Amino acid sequence: MAEIVGGITTSHIPAVGNALANDESRNDPYWKRFFDGYEPVKEWLAEVEPDVAIVVYNDHGLNFFLDTVPTFAIGCADSYSNADEGWALPQLETFQGDAQFSWHIAESLIEQEFDLTICQEMLVDHGFVVPMQLMWGHLEGWPVKAIPFAVNTVQHPLPSARRCLALGHALRKAIESYPEDLKVVVLGTGGMSHQLQGERAGLINVDFDMQCMDSVINDPEWLASMTNTEIIEQAGTEGVEIIMWLIMRGALQANVKAVHKHYHAPISNTGAGVLVLQNAS
Ligand code: DHB
Ligand code: FE
Repeated sequence: MAEIVGGITTSHIPAVGNALANDESRNDPYWKRFFDGYEPVKEWLAEVEPDVAIVVYNDHGLNFFLDTVPTFAIGCADSYSNADEGWALPQLETFQGDAQFSWHIAESLIEQEFDLTICQEMLVDHGFVVPMQLMWGHLEGWPVKAIPFAVNTVQHPLPSARRCLALGHALRKAIESYPEDLKVVVLGTGGMSHQLQGERAGLINVDFDMQCMDSVINDPEWLASMTNTEIIEQAGTEGVEIIMWLIMRGALQANVKAVHKHYHAPISNTGAGVLVLQNAS
């Protein structure tokens, strides 16, 4: 049976993709502490050797535009590519998917009353690509298959934090009912506090980011009980991306061990956090 080896949450800032494409920036004082925070994540991944990554992210207008935005969408293809989305990010090696596993997840989630949009073709943007690069970009070729799982955090009304946590619970059932022996890691991307436009552009709320990290580890109910308006008040309009961390958290057991926790602000416009969690038992 497929097994969840753990979960990772990380911000997905496009400037990171450019810094990675330009090796020089990595030892720059601006970047060093941020990138150092990912070394333990890479070590953990090298130890647990997942076969598949389910990458929960939001599309920012590359595959879906404001005219048609699904609340939840899953990629059911055998490969995915990124494309120019306006951040000057390079075209990366194609990501290998696992269509059969995607269809199983779609079937199980829809049976559990999460009515997903099914995408047999999907372009993936920085929300998916930057976390993949942070985890595995230092290796020759992608060592995992990847399944994109897109959540609408852009065009209101958005799904609630509580709905995202419940989706995580359903995702766990979906994964653990797949008969193949696969090791699966779930990535929840986006966040932490940031606002890219309007009067509060540049907002970062370190205290709220700390509370969110603690909540995702120890008390997901705390974040799940907030409305999106309350989250946006604290974390900024784009900071609401943090609700996707709850999908990863919901896929794990009630008690988890934090293998790694790191935070650095600001990176670009954002409070940048990364967590590695494993089931406690
Ligand atoms: C930034 C952060 C994001 O999450 C995003 O999607 C785009 C830009 C930023 O901090 O610049
Ligand atoms: Fe984003």
